[in-house]
Amino acid sequence: MRMESKGKNRSIAFFDAQFRRQVATGELSLNPFEARVLPYLGGSVLELGCGLGNLSIAAAPRGALVRAPAPCGPAFEPPGARPPLAGLNVTASAADLSRYTPPGPFDAVVAIGLFMFFPRELALESLRRAIDAVGEGGVFAANVLIEGTTYMDMFDTENGYYLFGEDTLRRSVATWQLLDDRVETFDAPGTTVKRFSTVIARRPAAARADPIDPTRAPMTDM
Ligand SMILES: C[S@@+](CC[C@H](N)C(=O)[O-])C[C@H]1O[C@@H](n2cnc3c(N)ncnc32)[C@H](O)[C@@H]1O
Repeated sequence: MRMESKGKNRSIAFFDAQFRRQVATGELSLNPFEARVLPYLGGSVLELGCGLGNLSIAAAPRGALVRAPAPCGPAFEPPGARPPLAGLNVTASAADLSRYTPPGPFDAVVAIGLFMFFPRELALESLRRAIDAVGEGGVFAANVLIEGTTYMDMFDTENGYYLFGEDTLRRSVATWQLLDDRVETFDAPGTTVKRFSTVIARRPAAARADPIDPTRAPMTDM
């Protein structure tokens, strides 16, 4: 499958180049965030900003039916570089994710390292839309760069970006069951740092209706 790169957005171009280098050197293993999320994926899965597609491809043999809209890049195209897609339940399609409304509901919605590449308003709106696409009892897994990040090379400063607050992800699923919640700092080139918030949470299943109490049943004419 081949997807077109718009070649305008600096973030997309940055990662496109990185992914091509990874494919060339055979670096196709899951990153630590993807590895953390994988055990929670099953049923219908939406992965937003799948990059190389490693997580979607790893989830598919576990029975997950994965939909992976991606903006560009070599995610699913490098012939011979990864297991063939044939036989895997993965559908990849090109999409402008900054204005994407997921069709939902899904058993899991994943967005690792995506929303911060949109300007503030679109970043928060995209987060909300992704959460809204999780079905009852389903899982939401997201990872974003947060305030305190000083490595800026991958941001498109012209189109805009947004460093999330440390608590934003957690607060956006405040009433859900928190399965994983971490803030991590990693060294980056030139004495800079990347700070990440990662949250995995389960949407509560709908409360079941109370069993009918016969003493309170409405009177009916006989
Ligand atoms: C840090 S990578 C994460 C990729 C993958 N989830 C992973 O964990 O390896 C960021 C991803 O966001 C995508 N991206 C960046 N800016 C974007 C934009 N404005 N619209 C859509 N996707 C974008 C990139 O193409 C890339 O796939």
